[in-house]
Amino acid sequence: GTAQIGVTGLAVMGRNLARNLARNGFTVAVHNRSAERTHSLVAEHGDEGTFVPSESLSDFVASLERPRAVIVMVKAGAPTDAVIDELVPLLEDGDIVVDCGNAHYDDTRRREEALRGHGLHFVGTGVSGGEEGALLGPSIMPGGSAESYQKLGPIFEKIAAQVDGTPCCRHIGPDGAGHFVKMVHNGIEYADMQLIAEAYDMLRTGLGAEPAEIAEIFTGWNSGDLESFLIEITADVLGHTDAATKRPFVDIVLDQAEQKGTGRWTVQSALDLGVPITGIAEATFARSLSGHADQRAAAARAFADVDAGAAPWATDDRETFIEDVRRALYASKIVAYAQGFDQIQAGSDEYDWNVDRGGLATIWRGGCIIRARFLDRIREAYDERPDLPSLMVAPYFAKGITDGVPSWRRVVGDAARYGIPAPAFASSLAYFDGLRRDRLPAALIQGLRDNFGAHTYRRVDRDGAFHTQWAGDRSESPA
Ligand code: 6PG
Repeated sequence: GTAQIGVTGLAVMGRNLARNLARNGFTVAVHNRSAERTHSLVAEHGDEGTFVPSESLSDFVASLERPRAVIVMVKAGAPTDAVIDELVPLLEDGDIVVDCGNAHYDDTRRREEALRGHGLHFVGTGVSGGEEGALLGPSIMPGGSAESYQKLGPIFEKIAAQVDGTPCCRHIGPDGAGHFVKMVHNGIEYADMQLIAEAYDMLRTGLGAEPAEIAEIFTGWNSGDLESFLIEITADVLGHTDAATKRPFVDIVLDQAEQKGTGRWTVQSALDLGVPITGIAEATFARSLSGHADQRAAAARAFADVDAGAAPWATDDRETFIEDVRRALYASKIVAYAQGFDQIQAGSDEYDWNVDRGGLATIWRGGCIIRARFLDRIREAYDERPDLPSLMVAPYFAKGITDGVPSWRRVVGDAARYGIPAPAFASSLAYFDGLRRDRLPAALIQGLRDNFGAHTYRRVDRDGAFHTQWAGDRSESPA
């Protein structure tokens, strides 16, 4: 075989990845279960580079140089397993199977182990940037063996987005590390989007502004601390007018947010790891809440008069209000990233992946959905102090938060006062206040646990676990 790398599964992501590879000078073997897609790719884009099309999987495998590198770009779950099962008997020692879909890292760990047993490398790889990123330069997060990266690294680093001459791709760590960090990336993406949506809701309600005006506010924000892809496209979406009705696009879209599972996985994993990723959890639940149409209708009817007679949220000083929302959004966003990076550290510790958080921030600066100007600052924070206890306490971010606290309190307080749901803003503020608090009421929880179940507690003044005879003479004894 002569192809340097192959792609099987030519739906839009696979097709665009294959084109990106070809455009960068790699000879790309291409295959799809139904051959029309393979042929149309070559017919429409054959002039972009060198494609080697095959109709059968065995011809496809035969067209690859050794060690073979096969990218599988099919739906996560059973379809991925089906393709792997078909591939394995066709491959030889040292060949590499790359899964670029949004797979669950547990599946990736299982597949990696199984393929290792066959002398093959399995590389679960996070790819972010949507369709356009896949074609023009995504952020790429490969897991798997260091050995497999020797072959894949030079290819992936070439097709990835580049920021200041640095490719947005690096080896994340063994087995499921790549898919794990991609999962958390998506969790942060959920939180970021929910925060943006809440900010929009506040601006719209507080200012009584039209979406097009709010689009301009977001455009303004995109040249400051908040500069990011998601803020940029928020302005794009809010500024869009529906052609059919001439109404703001955002007003004709059904307000029920969908999800394909990566946000949910992030929260599930965080619960297992014991990492309080409150912003991501609230964002995921907010999507669920939006989808419960019947409950929403019933509650809207039952509580229609709750705020009757109350003054609506009117902000007298427009500029101050906008600045308050901006600062509160920025502080909440720092919390979301801080929590996500905490989860990455916890996952890395749990599975011995040795993930370099500064390095990860480096490859999230471009290509991916959560790319943002402040990822450079995150990189610096972890480079300066790899064991940073929380991103929030790095001097640059601590200042952003400190400067934003009064605004954050006003905005969350007013949202509560005027009945605007702001779960992500509010929980981020509560997280901040919880983390920095001298004494937490967790002490009372411990007391209650010991009272009803003799679960014991520790003391501030002595080592060891203790139990109080709550039903007896209230004496205390070491447990
Ligand atoms: C990316 C995105 C992408 C994901 C979408 C949709 O990094 O390019 O994260 O992988 O499919 O964000 O996710 P939901 O359908 O769950 O919103």
